[in-house]
Amino acid sequence: MLIVGLGLIGGSIARGLKRANPDQPIAAVDTDTEALAEASAQAVIDRSGTLAELAAAADIVILALPPMTTVAMIPEIAACVRQDAVVTDVASVKSAILESVNKLEPEFVARFVPGHPIAGSEKSGFSASRADLFSDRNVILTPQSDTNPEAVALVNELWRKLGCSVLGMNLDRHDAVLAATSHLPHLLAYALVDALAKQEQSEDIFRYAAGGFADFSRLASSDAKMWSDIFVSNSSAIVHVLDTYIQNLHKLRELIDHQEHAPLMKLFSEAKTARDNFLKRYFESSNAMAIEERDTQFVIEPGGWICGNLRVPGDKSISHRSVILGAIANGVTRVRGFLEGEDAINTVAAFREMGVTIIGPENGELTIFGVGKHGLKAPRNPLYLGNSGTSMRLLTGLLAAQSFDSELIGDESLSARPMQRVAGPLQEMGAAIDTDSEGRSPLRIRGASLKGIDYAMPMASAQVKSCLLLAGLYAEGETAVSEPAVCRDHTERMLSGFGYSLHSDDKRQRISLTGGQMLTAIDIDIPGDISSAAFLMVAAAISPGSSLCLQHVGINPTRSGIINILRAMGADIELSNEREVGGEPVADVAIHYRRLRGIVIPEDQIPLAIDEFPAIFIAASCAEGETLLRGAAELRVKESDRIDAMATGLTTMGIESETFEDGIRIVGGPLGGGEVDSRGDHRIAMAFAIAGLQATATITVNNCANVATSFPGFVDLARQAGIRLTERAVS
Ligand code: S3P
Repeated sequence: MLIVGLGLIGGSIARGLKRANPDQPIAAVDTDTEALAEASAQAVIDRSGTLAELAAAADIVILALPPMTTVAMIPEIAACVRQDAVVTDVASVKSAILESVNKLEPEFVARFVPGHPIAGSEKSGFSASRADLFSDRNVILTPQSDTNPEAVALVNELWRKLGCSVLGMNLDRHDAVLAATSHLPHLLAYALVDALAKQEQSEDIFRYAAGGFADFSRLASSDAKMWSDIFVSNSSAIVHVLDTYIQNLHKLRELIDHQEHAPLMKLFSEAKTARDNFLKRYFESSNAMAIEERDTQFVIEPGGWICGNLRVPGDKSISHRSVILGAIANGVTRVRGFLEGEDAINTVAAFREMGVTIIGPENGELTIFGVGKHGLKAPRNPLYLGNSGTSMRLLTGLLAAQSFDSELIGDESLSARPMQRVAGPLQEMGAAIDTDSEGRSPLRIRGASLKGIDYAMPMASAQVKSCLLLAGLYAEGETAVSEPAVCRDHTERMLSGFGYSLHSDDKRQRISLTGGQMLTAIDIDIPGDISSAAFLMVAAAISPGSSLCLQHVGINPTRSGIINILRAMGADIELSNEREVGGEPVADVAIHYRRLRGIVIPEDQIPLAIDEFPAIFIAASCAEGETLLRGAAELRVKESDRIDAMATGLTTMGIESETFEDGIRIVGGPLGGGEVDSRGDHRIAMAFAIAGLQATATITVNNCANVATSFPGFVDLARQAGIRLTERAVS
């Protein structure tokens, strides 16, 4: 390893790596010979010498220099490093660096991994360096889509050893975010000190300055060369955010000049609340608390109808699987249409914690630098999976087969859900998994070698099936899973897409694969989630005058039970523009109002509509006659007990129902209003939200924050479609 530039950052990298592994040989180059001598004397580096001589021997070269010096040195570095060496940098501005890199040979470009640790100090030079400078800090990597994934994994591992969490970002986003969060505050500190120092009474100002001045001006002690480099290199992003800031200052100046106390106080209290909340969310509390603390309520005024041409967010099941399979594939997986909901983001965070570099999601795009089937790293903390059963069950299968230990935790709802259904068959495969005494999470998984089994699932669960197939990728011999009824098959379709061969019998109820094959990265285009579309479909189906088109909805036959059930109830649904996108059938779905009638829901449709029953129960409440559902005991162990949660809310709204252990009978009739509880279940909240269209009075739904787990933007889209919905924060 060669570090070019042994200042605060370069010195701290050397110290941190030596502390993690004293046997790691480190060479350094710097024009400051005193720093080199001090570093050698303290055994922080093993060698110094000329750039050409040291670069020729290095596997990895870290440019720890100010941005403009980095830019200037890149051609020289490219000329003397080995062809297989990986080069990285630490500069706070990425576009200028990549502009310089991209002029060079493609082999060098592919092995250059731009990086930026979000750590530092106003002190500079080797003497200020510390082994723990990067502990518990973030580092941002901005690899390009053609950067070599192995080079990315190597740089990721380097920062993990230093105690960092590694994030991925597009370079433009990096430069814009850093302009606002780091560059602007430094500018303000320099500007304040400069302005005050040039006033006549500057001595007095500095002598009597209290803590506030010291706090605010600390950044003005930063290295002048480095910061002038940063401002010149990131000028357009900084000017953009500076203009907004200057406008704000003008506004403040006016208010102060006119002694407008109330607006000033309003502005200050909003800023204080914003800062307090952000400290609480990002620095003080655990993720779990942050999510549980924010609560919202839906208020739906009665009436309205649905119209428009809309698109719902990406499919949740496919989004999770794109991250999981992309992470363990060889190569770079590019995803479009990714669901930017909390559940899928928790899956992204889990793989980041296991050493996978992932850029995004941004505008539905995600880029995953695959580490290969054996490239995951041991997580340093328990993996927090929020509300997401899919993440927990699928990851349990994958992690049971790794060589390292891990622990999976979730929010209150997830911690109450049954996990023995995956732990049991995995234990038969040889996995070492501890659940709590009732078979729930936290799940403590010890790495193990697994053997394939032939497993007949007692319930039709795609999560259990997928969990076992993921474990089977690593198991010795064949792993086979039989399902009592066909359930969603995204894992099978996507594994084939990633080049992994698997076998389904004729009726597709027994799926098998053999461990040991590799996965090859692909591009994935995720269709809209039919489970999210279902709420708007039912909304249009129950409100007279409605006419709605939903574009680009996934209509995989293992997911389209909602269409079959609504059609059986008499709904007017037309599919058009049917096509296949990335191995998944997709269509535009048009729904026009037509009076619904109650039905007996066919049992074979249950797994094909397993997430849609809260919406279907609203359809049943608005239909003529009775609707009967039996054989659906699985609904009791979803994010909430969906039979009980829906029946309770429907009773409040005046709908007659009878519940069974495995189902419900609903008698259609006039819907009243009232206050109902979603029990923190996203789909219950959205179901009651659409009920407002046919209600005769206001509906208030409590505990709605978790709608963000699967359908970010639901409130806006529902309002756009015609639902009279408002969301209120509840403190
Ligand atoms: C899912 C499978 C279903 C479904 C869940 C997503 C998946 O769960 O309810 O929302 O992505 O595999 P079960 O497999 O437990 O029925």
